[in-house]
Amino acid sequence: MKDEMTREERVANLKGMGCSRKRVEDARFTQGKGNYVDDVKLPGMLHGDFVRSPYAHARIKSINIDAAMALPGVTAVLTAKDLEPLGLHWMPTLAGDKQMVLADGKVLFQGQEVAFVVASDRYVAADAVELVEVDYEELEVVVDPFEALKSDVVLREDMVAEDGSVPNGAHGPRNHPNHIFTWEAGEKEATEQVIGDAEVVATEEMYYHRTHPCPLETCGSVASMDKVNGKLTLWGTFQAPHVVRTVASLLSGIEEHNIRVISPDIGGGFGNKVGVYPGYVCSIVASIVTGVPVKWVEDRMENLMSTAFARDYWMKGQISATKEGKITGLHCHVTADHGAFDACADPTKFPAGFMNICTGSYDIPVAYLGVDGVYTNKAPGGVSYRCSFRVTEAVYFIERMIEVLAIKLNMDPAELRSINFIKKEQFPYQAALGWEYDSGDYQTAWDKALEAVDYKGLRAEQAQRVEDFKAGKTRKVMGIGLSFFTEIVGAGPVKNCDILGMGMFDSCEIRIHPTGSAVARLGTISQGQGHATTFAQILATEIGLSAESITIEEGDTDTAPYGLGTYGSRSTPVAGAAAAMAGRKIRAKAQMIAAYLLEVHDNDVEFDVDRFVVKGSPEQFKTMKEVAYAAYNQAIPGLEPGLEAVSYYDPPNMTYPFGAYICVMDIDVDTGVPEIRRFYALDDCGTRINPMVIEGQIHGGLTEALAVALGQEIAYDDLGNVKTGTLMDFFLPTAWEVPNYETDYTVTPSPHHPIGAKGVGESPHVGGVPCFSNAVQDAFRPFGNTHTNMPHDHWRIWQTANDLGMHD
Ligand code: CDP
Repeated sequence: MKDEMTREERVANLKGMGCSRKRVEDARFTQGKGNYVDDVKLPGMLHGDFVRSPYAHARIKSINIDAAMALPGVTAVLTAKDLEPLGLHWMPTLAGDKQMVLADGKVLFQGQEVAFVVASDRYVAADAVELVEVDYEELEVVVDPFEALKSDVVLREDMVAEDGSVPNGAHGPRNHPNHIFTWEAGEKEATEQVIGDAEVVATEEMYYHRTHPCPLETCGSVASMDKVNGKLTLWGTFQAPHVVRTVASLLSGIEEHNIRVISPDIGGGFGNKVGVYPGYVCSIVASIVTGVPVKWVEDRMENLMSTAFARDYWMKGQISATKEGKITGLHCHVTADHGAFDACADPTKFPAGFMNICTGSYDIPVAYLGVDGVYTNKAPGGVSYRCSFRVTEAVYFIERMIEVLAIKLNMDPAELRSINFIKKEQFPYQAALGWEYDSGDYQTAWDKALEAVDYKGLRAEQAQRVEDFKAGKTRKVMGIGLSFFTEIVGAGPVKNCDILGMGMFDSCEIRIHPTGSAVARLGTISQGQGHATTFAQILATEIGLSAESITIEEGDTDTAPYGLGTYGSRSTPVAGAAAAMAGRKIRAKAQMIAAYLLEVHDNDVEFDVDRFVVKGSPEQFKTMKEVAYAAYNQAIPGLEPGLEAVSYYDPPNMTYPFGAYICVMDIDVDTGVPEIRRFYALDDCGTRINPMVIEGQIHGGLTEALAVALGQEIAYDDLGNVKTGTLMDFFLPTAWEVPNYETDYTVTPSPHHPIGAKGVGESPHVGGVPCFSNAVQDAFRPFGNTHTNMPHDHWRIWQTANDLGMHD
């Protein structure tokens, strides 16, 4: 057959891996054609709204719904009493705890759901919420986790036995009614011994403040129970739709095949849409009770006050080294404030997520980590906000400890990192706290980064600036923020990663149509990451059909194969691998068909870009398109018609992306305003599927890192009032605050991933937070600063300068 295109043109035509293909979903999003939960409008649909607690800790003496029910348009007002006969007044959390769906006798945090009003429209529902009378008796509030562990105030009375003893929790023994678990990794005694004998020890306490993913679209759901055929359809802001289906089935008793869960377009998740919220449960119950569809969509304040927060880790570290700077041991203890219910979204065996990656990118021979989870009168959550299960906390911890050790050693922090990096030849590397890092080349990345910014030149400039400041010539100091991070993404091997007993594999199903186009469905769900674009690119390269001819579908449990969803950058490492493997199954069958058509043995044809070619005879070939047609329309001896494949992929290990970030910052000590002069980000995510999408992910992740490091916080007062529950107080950066990012990369493929790809979505956040924070801290290092806590907002920066006597 004659072929007009060169091989290069055929490769380009595929738009496969490595190509900066434009995002196919953007045509829809930029023209207002996205279809979000709030766009779902069904005939006769009712609207739900919550009565929420104004108190952080109070007993509920009575709830009077009469006035609300009397309001025209109100259909129902549900309280815990209505849910109790169904066994739905409490629900399981992803962390093995349970959570009140509607307040059962008491409330434990401000904004907690007390009653659910169902009405003809959203405004009537909101008016009726005002008419529900709740009689509260205020109780003593505990917002400090250290106080909670000493307090006589019992928050979770359901977690204390009748005789006053404290039974075990989901993660073992508890030592106080407000204690949730103790989780340990590594060798405690050996670590303490090494630190005790060390030449140099640096100690620091740091608070990684409570913050919130704050996606632009808040959480919501529409439940529609069809009483005739017994089917429940649930649209919702779900990062893991299949998990929601299984949990909904277990809770409601509705058989799983009668539940269809649909995640339509999602306006950002960042971990916030992983958990199960009372609103989802109440919309389902209300639809079952009323027999019509019920919508619940929260507003911004509800989202910030009551849905899953992130971080809130009090970390205490000790790091030991020789006088020359070789690290010998690391000790970390965390007091983790989980709020009123333990609703962390972590794999079951890891109650503190992957915090045990806190040895970072360094070859640390011995280490210990202990984490104590604590109940307080705050909203539940503890999700991985743009990170893989507490990795952001881990990386922040080690990258601060390195800086603090550098101060103690009076050494340059860039050099200290170089001395301690895990070396290229040490991979696969067995870390002291249990993980096996798959691949890395840290020194090369670090050298590239330092050279790109002229690190030596920057340090010379900084030294001059210090002189100038001391001489009264300037009021601006200069900080050089460094961070070198190792991520752990792609949860995960089923052998050690499950959520509520559900193994964390993922899946892809491909159906090739006779004309050589295809639809592929996956168990993941994009929330802005561009899966429709990039998964098609993986498949294009694997099966030899243009990405333009491949539709990607996710998020509908009636059509997509079972998968554990999208969070923690697991899509590429797990579902991306499933896509490649399913593609290879297609290719294996296609090869047999091609060989039959070419009248040669299977082994005598080989795959080349978009076709099967007879070995040694390139003019004899069958394109994948021709093969697809034959698969359906030609009787091929020994083969079933059709061209379809499915792969359920259980990864053998996580993937370990890494990166080197450098931030240059000027700080006005009189206003506390930081000015980011330069931000350089080098990422290594293994094989790069779409460089443009990667760059977009990095820009977004860095911006969320900037937010968290420089001001974004969920703060409480002593009475448990949320002080930052609106976008007036909760910092969400705009183009105004965001600097110009310079991106760069190295490529160190994952040895176990079918295409060598590692995740990238969370990396910029994980590496970015310590980088921004280190820049602030570094600016004040020459003036005596060792550590100050985030968020570094203008006031706190001013305060640091003031404490250091720089305003005198
Ligand atoms: O799980 P999530 O989609 O949030 O994160 P990810 O797996 O890191 O992927 C984010 C986006 O970056 C997806 O569109 C990936 O296909 C793309 N990506 C890439 O192009 N190359 C990589 N090596 C990793 C991710």
